[in-house]
Amino acid sequence: MQEALDFLTLTDRSASDRLVNAMFSHHLLIVDQTGSGKTTTTLSLLGQLQQLNQTAIIFDPTGEYAKLPNAITYRLGDNCYLEAGKLTVDQLLTVLQVQIDRPLRTKLQQAVIDLQIQHNIKNEQGPYRRLNCPLVAHQRDEEGLAAWASDFPVQDLLTQVIEEFVVPFTDNRANYTLLGQQYDRAGINHYWPLLTAIHDQLASPTFRALFDTDKHAGTMKSELNFILKMFLHQRSQHRTLVVDLSLLKEHEESQRLVLSLLLKEVLRLRLRDSTGFPVNVIIDEAHRYLPQDEQCLADNGIFQLVREGRKLALKMILTTQSPLDLPARLRSQFGDLLVHRLLDQEEVVSLPGTGLTQQETAQLPVGQAELCILGEAPALVKVNLPAWWRGDKNE
Ligand SMILES: Nc1ncnc2c1ncn2[C@@H]1O[C@H](COP(=O)(O)OP(=O)(O)OP(=O)(O)O)[C@@H](O)[C@H]1O
Ligand SMILES: [Mg+2]
Repeated sequence: MQEALDFLTLTDRSASDRLVNAMFSHHLLIVDQTGSGKTTTTLSLLGQLQQLNQTAIIFDPTGEYAKLPNAITYRLGDNCYLEAGKLTVDQLLTVLQVQIDRPLRTKLQQAVIDLQIQHNIKNEQGPYRRLNCPLVAHQRDEEGLAAWASDFPVQDLLTQVIEEFVVPFTDNRANYTLLGQQYDRAGINHYWPLLTAIHDQLASPTFRALFDTDKHAGTMKSELNFILKMFLHQRSQHRTLVVDLSLLKEHEESQRLVLSLLLKEVLRLRLRDSTGFPVNVIIDEAHRYLPQDEQCLADNGIFQLVREGRKLALKMILTTQSPLDLPARLRSQFGDLLVHRLLDQEEVVSLPGTGLTQQETAQLPVGQAELCILGEAPALVKVNLPAWWRGDKNE
């Protein structure tokens, strides 16, 4: 027989502790209008997961989970970074919030490849020089580029793209065995505003921190994909990993994409090793990181993890202000719900199968919720503050 859990107290006498214990068997959605306890409940739930020795990864877009004890915290731009080479050129442009046309995108793609060659194969500084470079030599370099060699100095992108504009002479000195003999200056000038826009974004403090472009000797930062790999690969002493993405707080689009990419990476890593231990993946205010457009949903990491994760022992815990903020296709994937105060009739109706009424949810005080487990009647519960929190307050 399992013990009752600490973080919730059943106020409904007819409900059994079995109900609370059952809540860890499905994806969990925590809903509440603002200020009624989503974050507090999630913190309390995390404390409970620690007690149960369960592994949890929190993607923290606002930095609110820094206070969680017994967690290992990586803060983007501080002790961790994202390797630009892990992104496709389209993703890189989305993160930088710059839009370009197809010809320039092709040049940018080639520039990334050339920088990867220069950085990993030739082990040389600066751009890959295309001027007077034989086509066969370049082809050989490209063939030598292995999948591991994705890292490249993103701050050299502007100088490298300029190299991509080399063309043969236009008179009888033209040598078509070379990549080029002169710069297409009209072409460079045509794209100059966009090229400088990309450069300016990359030079801004946020993106320098995101991609760790000013690597300083003696400071150790870890790459985010690597952190996830290590954490998912072996159980660490700390069962809770906080990935603080608040560096991108002011850049919603960028944050949404980075979060989506990281979740896809969790899924990819788990698909490669499907025998791993169960992992809870937690996102507070998840609606902010989902695409508005239903069409884009299938490509979103949150959606993919919710849909595919269960069979890979990945459990998702999301919070949202209104169930209506989540696309219906996503909402229907949650077997368990913890419903705090909800005032709107339409919101309550959007939670099918719970049997909850607006009268019930509207009068819930802060810290109380209806626990709805798939196939069971809802039970009124009180969320207990975690022990460490109560300790804090007494001090
Ligand atoms: N279970 C609880 N017991 C006691 N106080 C609580 C409980 N849950 C929340 N509170 C208090 O209510 C306030 C709001 O809680 P919280 O920040 O968790 O809400 P939220 O839904 O995450 O808000 P927001 O929408 O602003 O993110 C806090 O001051 C918190 O201390
Ligand atoms: Mg909150």
